[in-house]
Amino acid sequence: TPTLGHRIAVIPGDGIGTEVMPEGLRVLEAAASRFGLDLRFETFDFACWPYYERHGAMLPPDWQDILGGFDAIYFGAVGWPEKIPDHVSLWGSLLQFRRAFDQYVNLRPARLMPGVRAPLVRADGTPYAPGEIDMLIVRENTEGEYSSIGGRMFEGTERELVVQETVMTRHGVDRVLRFAFEQARRRRGRLTSATKSNGIAITMPYWDERVRAMAAAYPDVAVDQYHIDILTAHFVQRPDRFDVVVASNLFGDILSDLAPACTGTIGIAPSANLNPERRFPSLFEPVHGSAPDIAGRGIANPIGQIWSGALMLDFLGHREAHDAIVRAIEAALAPGSGAPRTPDLGGRAGTADLGRAIAEALRAGA
Ligand code: NAI
Ligand code: MG
Repeated sequence: TPTLGHRIAVIPGDGIGTEVMPEGLRVLEAAASRFGLDLRFETFDFACWPYYERHGAMLPPDWQDILGGFDAIYFGAVGWPEKIPDHVSLWGSLLQFRRAFDQYVNLRPARLMPGVRAPLVRADGTPYAPGEIDMLIVRENTEGEYSSIGGRMFEGTERELVVQETVMTRHGVDRVLRFAFEQARRRRGRLTSATKSNGIAITMPYWDERVRAMAAAYPDVAVDQYHIDILTAHFVQRPDRFDVVVASNLFGDILSDLAPACTGTIGIAPSANLNPERRFPSLFEPVHGSAPDIAGRGIANPIGQIWSGALMLDFLGHREAHDAIVRAIEAALAPGSGAPRTPDLGGRAGTADLGRAIAEALRAGA
């Protein structure tokens, strides 16, 4: 039975964003037909260098009105340093979305997939099995260490002084913690908090205090916490023991690059920027950028884009469609599946070959 329609803004962006997006859409269309979803896509040509060259800006002036009414934004990648400095293209588009649409959760699943050479082994030298590393990094995305409160004084003199304040609000900390606890509850019931209360002795003890307060409302979730330095070591040495990991903006930034790196190629890693209350559209995009070094050759791995589409369906309330897409990705990646592999996976296939194989696996009932 068709569900209520979802309006999705599609923004391919720059470089391989334009190559992996069609594969993301192909798989979403296949999911829509299998699960009877009503997905209404509308594609936009802004947030890329050709648009900037024509208009002198990354976005139209009324972009907030244009995008604000959508349920989700499906994004490729932005950035083309040869034409536009990265701070102009990123601050002029993606980072505007995150801020204006109060996307306060940055979400990155990291799961070891079959057929992907794991960069990590156990202490005894044995490899991890597919699915054995399976974590979800929840990063606070709007405050914390990334604040614009501060400044410089006495510039260029002996007395030169620079200050940048960390900002934590009860509202800001609690809302990301609540989201993380909810995720732990629907996964394996474990939550790890990243802290550094031994060194950062004001804001981090506050973070820990809010974790304890929130934990009281989730007696079914087992909570632990580690200082960020040893936590990064544990990610490398015992990545299989983590389920949901929640962290402030800076620590989350680091962990959310480290976790996908522990499970293989950047080409498969997905991410979401969420406004869980749905007052504004949330944004779903692969972790990777526009990859100018391989753009235009049709060899980019489309899995990061496809998996991000699965996260989008999950957020829109279609968990079974999400699970089926992840299973289709696994089926295509499985050794001996015969599915084509892109060069980053050790094969010689193109972006569309792999995209079609995943859509096919999905249709075949993966
Ligand atoms: P990148 O992620 O674009 O590329 C890093 C390396 O990974 C490159 O060697 C690339 O070929 C490879 N790679 C990335 N995605 C791949 C895929 N799907 N399949 C196979 N190989 C893949 O990061 P880089 O080179 O630092 O940045 C390039 C541009 O992208 C810059 O303008 C940067 O600002 C932008 N960028 C944008 C992001 C976004 O839109 N969210 C995120 C990261 C970077
Ligand atoms: Mg980062």
